[in-house]
Amino acid sequence: MQMIPFNKPKIFKNSITYLNDSIKTLSFHGDKEYTKRCHKWIEDRFNTKKCLLTTSCTHALEMVAMLSEIKEGDEVIMPSYTFVSTANAFIKFGAKIIFIDIVPQTMNLNEDLIEQAITPKTKIIVPVHYAGVSCDMDKIMQIANKYNLIVAEDAAQGVSSLYKNRYLGTIGDFGCFSFHETKNYICGEGGALLINNEKYIDRAKIIREKGTNRDNFLNGIVNKYTWVDKGSSYLPSDILASILYGQLENTNKINKKRLNLWNFYYKQLKILENKSLIELQKIPEYSSHNAHMFFIKVRDIEVRTKLIEFLKKNNVLSLFHYIPLHSSPMGLKNTLFYGNDEITTKDSERLLRLPLYYDLTKKQIKYICQLIDIFFSK
Ligand SMILES: Cc1ncc(COP(=O)(O)O)c(C=O)c1O
Repeated sequence: MQMIPFNKPKIFKNSITYLNDSIKTLSFHGDKEYTKRCHKWIEDRFNTKKCLLTTSCTHALEMVAMLSEIKEGDEVIMPSYTFVSTANAFIKFGAKIIFIDIVPQTMNLNEDLIEQAITPKTKIIVPVHYAGVSCDMDKIMQIANKYNLIVAEDAAQGVSSLYKNRYLGTIGDFGCFSFHETKNYICGEGGALLINNEKYIDRAKIIREKGTNRDNFLNGIVNKYTWVDKGSSYLPSDILASILYGQLENTNKINKKRLNLWNFYYKQLKILENKSLIELQKIPEYSSHNAHMFFIKVRDIEVRTKLIEFLKKNNVLSLFHYIPLHSSPMGLKNTLFYGNDEITTKDSERLLRLPLYYDLTKKQIKYICQLIDIFFSK
């Protein structure tokens, strides 16, 4: 069997057509035709008040920090089992990050621990929908409403997944998407900020355009634009938006294919779970996921290291994932883990991600699962 990579980005024909079209216009800065099309597509499909494409999910999260007026000492609650950007975006503006433990079934934050971690300084809760599987948003929104807190969903991996009948990223005040090439719908590097609370929309447009009211100028509201607020350059080139638009048009196709592969993995590996050799992901009833990731859990880090090596020797690339942020050099200096770390470290060391991408075949999945079976029968 030829080497099976962990990920292989898929580019559809219409992305290439739109890309060529965008280049031909010789005017492909931000907020041109394809960016507008992406905005409308996302707003209509997912039902959010405003979508703004950004250069990354990291930058969408930074925009959340600016829009929420994060200042020195404000506290932000999130899981430690996440990507650095979830924390960095807020620490950059002086926030103190308060980590809480996760639940083993989904690796998402434990909603029942949020309330105890709230202090008068708490400003935002950032649920991360790991692997595109939803957190319990009703519980989170209830707590946020009770304490008057902002909710920013890190839906980097959760584009097109649902919580009950609502798309991830559209439930909190903000939702943040990633279109990095490792995600389901891609343009290399890219993201989007979804604004579900109307009061933030006007300022978001200004922050994204270097702190200017250029958007008002382009829409004929003012006759010249000027510097009106803090900001940065968070908008992507229309070239990237053209690639992304071709991907978004294929969302149904991508979802169907990935879910099919995910279910096939699940069926193949269920036998090993029944023998208590591995654990499979558990999808809560309220979550309809986008098959962003297929992970298994093994006994401990030693077994995982050996399994990674065994798969690699047989031409399969598998990967572990986040090293909990509270134990990183930066996390040790600047963050607080509230309560006990009962699951975060232990389960992050047991988790292994298997290849999952659009062009992966069932034959390849069968091969991977047979290898895992052989590994455990040795
Ligand atoms: C949970 C989470 N949040 C944020 C990000 C950052 O996304 P981006 O690379 O688009 O900045 C990632 C990237 O993988 C992620 O997994």
